[in-house]
Amino acid sequence: MLKSTVRRNTLLLLKTHTLNQTNTFQLVAKTISGLENSVAKELEKLGATKIEILHRAVSFEGDQAIMYKANYCLRTALRILKPIGNFGARDESSLYKQIQKFDWSKFFSIDQTFAIDAVVSGDIFTHSQYAALKVKDAIVDQFRDRFGSRPSVNTYMPDFRMNVHITNERVTLAADSSGESLHKRGYRKMVDKAPINEVLAAGLIQLTGWNRDSNFVDCMCGSGTIPIEAAMYAMKIPAGYYRSQFGFMRWSDFDAQLWQTVKQVADTEICEFDHEIIASDRSGKAIDIARGNIQNAHLQHDIKVIKKNMEELIPPEGGGIMLINPPYGERLEESDIISLYQTIGNTLKKNFKGFQAWAVSSDLQALKYIGLKPSRKIPIYNGPLECRLVCFDIFDGSYKDKKARENKNL
Ligand SMILES: C[S@@+](CC[C@H](N)C(=O)[O-])C[C@H]1O[C@@H](n2cnc3c(N)ncnc32)[C@H](O)[C@@H]1O
Repeated sequence: MLKSTVRRNTLLLLKTHTLNQTNTFQLVAKTISGLENSVAKELEKLGATKIEILHRAVSFEGDQAIMYKANYCLRTALRILKPIGNFGARDESSLYKQIQKFDWSKFFSIDQTFAIDAVVSGDIFTHSQYAALKVKDAIVDQFRDRFGSRPSVNTYMPDFRMNVHITNERVTLAADSSGESLHKRGYRKMVDKAPINEVLAAGLIQLTGWNRDSNFVDCMCGSGTIPIEAAMYAMKIPAGYYRSQFGFMRWSDFDAQLWQTVKQVADTEICEFDHEIIASDRSGKAIDIARGNIQNAHLQHDIKVIKKNMEELIPPEGGGIMLINPPYGERLEESDIISLYQTIGNTLKKNFKGFQAWAVSSDLQALKYIGLKPSRKIPIYNGPLECRLVCFDIFDGSYKDKKARENKNL
């Protein structure tokens, strides 16, 4: 009884958690180009302060609880970095010397492992691997000089992962509190051809403006990423719900009790969803893989999986959002691409009345063959590929009828 009261009080406390300004620090959420605003909106809801949009990143302030929450709840962030320091370096020797000025034993010990991720731009440092090697050498040499022994490097699952960002002479160091990239949610064990990154899928859903208040259909679902992310969003399942490891868990200041409370509070938000989520694809192999991933996410009762050509799918009544990531480029003849995108347009007009249909593709030419006028075009990146997310409003009746109805209502 007492235990549950204490727990309830802790939950209440965290729900209304206000930042203790003395314990706040700067953090940076890294993301995909085009999703910066989505990350900022998510951070605002979490209670982060001093949110500032950067290129492929958002900087913000928060305390330990906000850092744990950002890792657990943000759908559109790839990593949460905690800056350690920054300095200028004109060459590799000054980079080495500057790195040695930090006391690395404060961050990890000789019996722990570490890894360095470097990103470089500008004329001074041109090879990220080489810059990472220099930083690693400086750290290892410091440990060896001080303790006669050195920590090992483990690039897969290190105890401490550090991000080194170099732009011309400016070097920024940050501890990576996520460890593995946050797109690795933990539910996707197998993938079919050209799967979309989970963070991108979640970001595309945010960009459609879907408010969890209508049906959601992906009739080219491949491995099922988009419908799984849609269901997680609809049911408020935290993005990190299926993950057991985050980088901050191996830090010396890890507060296991605070982490459990952050998790419990976020998990209490999980709810039912009243509309339909459909995952369909024409490929039997894709459908088998999607079913497996949906099962891994325990969403088999929440997502309807159908093996069908898009042209034959009967969407749920009441309209909603349709979001597809059609094939592009990969091993398809140009004539097949043209007819595929024409089929998408014809099917939308014929079967998806009342839906707002969204398609993402890097083949900007192919998108034109859909033959409908997009109401919105949003630039977004899928890895190095520049894509467009386009929206088609499929009216119930003709566009002319709709305009006439609107004019009548004026
Ligand atoms: C780029 S993949 C989608 C990847 C998916 N978003 C993921 O994360 O795995 C495109 C998918 O469209 C499917 N497809 C192509 N033409 C189709 C059609 N006419 N009807 C239904 N599915 C189709 C393919 O089988 C393939 O799985």
